[in-house]
Amino acid sequence: MPNAYISGTGFFAPPRVVTNDDLIKEYGIDTTNEWIVQRTGIEERHYADEGVATSDLAVEATRIALKNAGLEAHDLDMIVFATLSPDHCFPGSGVYLQKKLGLCEGPKAKFIPALDVRNQCSGFVYALSTATAMIKAGVYKHVLVVGAELHSHSLDLTTRGRMVSCLFGDGAGAVVLSATDEDRGVRAWKLGADGRFADKLSQPIWDISKKPFMPLDANGVGQVAPEMMWAQMDGKLVFRHAVERMVTVLMETCIEAGITGNDIDLFLFHQANLRINQYIQNEVLKLPDSKFIHNIQRFGNTTAATIPSLLHEAVESGRLKRGMKVACVAFGSGFTWGSVIIEW
Ligand SMILES: CC(C)(COP(=O)(O)OP(=O)(O)OC[C@H]1O[C@@H](n2cnc3c(N)ncnc32)[C@H](O)[C@@H]1OP(=O)(O)O)[C@@H](O)C(=O)NCCC(=O)NCCS
Repeated sequence: MPNAYISGTGFFAPPRVVTNDDLIKEYGIDTTNEWIVQRTGIEERHYADEGVATSDLAVEATRIALKNAGLEAHDLDMIVFATLSPDHCFPGSGVYLQKKLGLCEGPKAKFIPALDVRNQCSGFVYALSTATAMIKAGVYKHVLVVGAELHSHSLDLTTRGRMVSCLFGDGAGAVVLSATDEDRGVRAWKLGADGRFADKLSQPIWDISKKPFMPLDANGVGQVAPEMMWAQMDGKLVFRHAVERMVTVLMETCIEAGITGNDIDLFLFHQANLRINQYIQNEVLKLPDSKFIHNIQRFGNTTAATIPSLLHEAVESGRLKRGMKVACVAFGSGFTWGSVIIEW
């Protein structure tokens, strides 16, 4: 059975930086830099311009990942695209990415499968686990795994929406997962979900049980009420469950891999809130800063893109080296969670 290893990583964030003070000055939100930094660690995030779509961010990250893997788009056998902010309701963003990568044109056109994963902040670990299973089954040689989000176009950037909108930013991360006969790569993964909390962090937009699925005005134009249009979150509940589930799934994955937490060289935790991650690091795992990388300070929560962005930073900065063990752990809306341990 082949092993599945990451042959290339990439990350892209749109150039426009929005600081906490910009949220006040540009958008008139009643908040302070201190409130946001103290509770979340976030100092700034990146916002895409109008006209940019989630798949556009994904293309940029993919090009970097392919280059680092020494591959071209036509070497790919499958796309797995994790996002909660797809270009459209349907089809999924994976097919837009496939087209933008030039895979559908010319004599070398290659109509590889494109799968969208809708598991929010856990999307990347779900996608990576799925791709690993495909590679280990011997079905595919190179699978592109992308986590991309364009949050800023669908955030309530007013004081009403400040609790959610100050948290999120735009960005895309990508990895190429490749087959190898070498003794390395993904060692274990664990995924979980608890649908009892599905409404505790959600952005419904519509209710398909209703006829029609959203109210219409006199001209037949769809009307979306603010509580349906903007993401809703029970922040304290999310915080509590995130700590519990991330620790548990990490330990379960270590057991599956036959190692302990002390054997892990680098922990890449989903970047939802620096305080959640610091609490787990300092109060539960009691491990040094040198084993963790965070980038939420600069990018906010980029949901499915956080873990591939950290992987890329870890590789580029030289902190992740061949032979090291890295644990990727995520929790998010659903609630869903997951962890993947990779021997680099
Ligand atoms: C969102 C979060 C930072 C809020 O922090 P908190 O300490 O729980 O804040 P509270 O809910 O107690 O709100 C405190 C007050 O701050 C206010 N507030 C909310 N957002 C604010 C902002 N951006 N600026 C200033 N004040 C704000 C609230 O309105 C509330 O005011 P009130 O007491 O007058 O009602 C925190 O709950 C959190 O990070 N939870 C996890 C979120 C997460 O990880 N989401 C993604 C999951 S993948």
